[in-house]
Parts: sequence; C-alpha cells; structure tokens
Amino acid sequence: EKAGFEHFMIKEIHEQPKAVHDTINSVVKDGAIDLSEVGLTEEQIKNISQIYIVACGSAYHVGVACQYVFEDLAEIPVRVELASEFRYRKMVLDPNGLVIIVSQSGETADSLAALRLAKKKGVKTLGIVNVVGSSIAREADNVFYTLAGPEIAVATTKAYSTQLIAGYCLAVQFAKVRGSIDDTQYAHLIDEMQQLPDKIAKILEDKERIQWFAAKQANAGDIFFIGRGIDYAISLEGSLKMKEISYIHSEAYAAGELKHGTISLIEDGTLVIGVLTQSELYEKTVSNMVECKSRGAYLMGLTTYGNYNIEDTVSFTVYIPKTDEHFATSLAVIPLQLMGYYVSVAKGLDVDKPRNLAKSVTVE
Ligand code: F6R
Repeated sequence: EKAGFEHFMIKEIHEQPKAVHDTINSVVKDGAIDLSEVGLTEEQIKNISQIYIVACGSAYHVGVACQYVFEDLAEIPVRVELASEFRYRKMVLDPNGLVIIVSQSGETADSLAALRLAKKKGVKTLGIVNVVGSSIAREADNVFYTLAGPEIAVATTKAYSTQLIAGYCLAVQFAKVRGSIDDTQYAHLIDEMQQLPDKIAKILEDKERIQWFAAKQANAGDIFFIGRGIDYAISLEGSLKMKEISYIHSEAYAAGELKHGTISLIEDGTLVIGVLTQSELYEKTVSNMVECKSRGAYLMGLTTYGNYNIEDTVSFTVYIPKTDEHFATSLAVIPLQLMGYYVSVAKGLDVDKPRNLAKSVTVE
C-alpha cells in the first residue's frame, strides 16, 4: 500500500500534485471559483468584516500563510489563532466575523472546542476539513472539503498543501466578490493556481539534491528557519517538519526579530535556512542572513529561479519555480518537507510514526 515507496510520508509528498489539482478542480469551473457547494452566498461574503482562522500545528501554519493572502487580496482583517489559546481566551468576536477552522482530521479536540465556542457566540463558522463526516465537518455551518485523500504519515504533507489551496480559493473569491481585485487579476490568480501542481511535480524531480544535502545535516544540533511575511509562514512549517520527524531542535523566526535575542544562539556552523520568495522583502532577509553568517552560521537559501545573487551569500541554494507570490508557500514548502524527511531517513528514525505523536490529537 506504500506503492513502492519506502514510507507513507514520501508517498504522500509525491501525491501532492494530484491532491492540489483535485482540490483546485473541486471549486474552479470554467475559469471561475464556485463556492456554492461550500454554501457561502455573495451577500454573506460581502458582509464579512473580520476573519478568524483557528487551528493547531501545521493547520495553524496554513492560517498564518493565508492571513497574508486574505488581507492583501480581499482586504479583510484576519486574525490567526491557536485553537488551544482561542478557546480559553475571553475573546470579543465580531458578530459579522467568519471563523474558519482548519483541520485535516476534523477531530482535533481544541479545534472542535473552538468551533463550538464560536457557534455559541453566534459567529458564522466554516471548516476546511479533509475527513468527510468528521465532527468539525458535521458541526461547522459551512465546509470546504480538501481532497487530499487518506493521510497515513503522522507528519502532514498533502493535507497541508490542500488546506493552502482552500485558503487561496476563498481569498481569491472573496476578493472578486468584494471588488478588491479586477477581472484580469482574478483570471491571472486562477491561472497561477492551476499551474501549481506541475510546478510541485517539477520540484520533486530534484529530490536527490536535497537528499544529499539533508544527509549531511543529520548531526546538526540546531537549525534556524528565517523569513519575512509569507516566508515566515513557510519557515514555521519547515521548522515543524524538521523537529517532529528528525528530532533536531529547530526554530522558525521572523527574520527581523532574530536580533532581538535569538541571534545569540548562532554559533560556528549553525545551519540557518533563509526563505526568500517575496521580492519586496528579499533584500531585507538577505541582510539578516549576512548577519547570521558573520556570527559563523552556515547558510542555505530557498528562493525563486532568477535570484541567483543569493549565491554570493549562501553555501547551498534550492530554487523553486516562479509563481504569483501569494501562492509561494505551496512551492517552497516542498523542499522543506523533503529536508525533514531525508534527515529523518539519514538518522534511521521511524519517519511515519515519530515518538510521542499521534495522527489525530483528541486530547486537550
Ligand atoms: C504536523 C501535524 C500536526 C497537525 C495538527 C492538527 O505535521 O500533522 O501539527 O497539523 O495536529 O491536526 P488536524 O489538521 O487534524 O486538526
């Protein structure tokens, strides 16, 4: 059932082009996004004055990435909340808000409790859920199903990738309905989204190069992932993949925040992975990487084809294809999933069932 792959995780990593394609095609029809199955009317979309994205773990990281997309395209304020915090904080919720709960399993205890709390407070809820008929899917007012198929490996890959797509589709359609993007931008964004599966497949073709680099990092004590904006969201997920399956301590830092304390941890040889997919923030992050390098860090850069001057600063570079920058997370996460996976394999660990972790967290 691993279809010739050594682990479920690497099999599921390779299933991402299809999972992403299927999820896009479940809502994109004749060049337009159709949310009628999700059940949101244009009237409702126009009336949303605040979005709350609530989730745990990788699903929370989807929220962090999508916050930038919603705010930039649809111009709706967004708060991203950890479900385990949201549910205990006495939050004042906007009555015209929309609470989006993101969950692969649809059974995560804190996410389910957050959903129930939002409903009790009379705020509209929408679940982005993978498992059909799960508790969150049943109880949310509206559901956007991701079509990742069953995910077996504890560390999420394809479900995460499809959750991003659900977030993009909502953001792009909200932007269209609310008039914050024009028809040309709308068509462009949908076209860029539809190209993501092929670009993900292209990145996967280069996996041996990442495997080679990952194997050399197996003895690393600490790894830092840094980036700004959407690149910070990508860093969060890259760091989580690394620690959960490779048992290497890692941190994700908003690049500009490093010098407020954490840079003191950079020593000779510490691996710092800089994520640079956002052109407006590129130079700023490069200068933070230079700061790390001057304190002894060993640098890897993850950036878009064309940014070749990164090689003046870093020792190892992974390039990803160009896309609309709102969607860069979908591409940049792939090499980071592979990094986590291959470090774990190089260390001989139980990749699919890392210690202390469960696939579905139904305890609080
Ligand atoms: C990490 C991972 C977890 C889940 C989290 C939420 O690889 O899989 O962080 O993302 O436990 O799970 P769901 O999406 O089922 O609510």
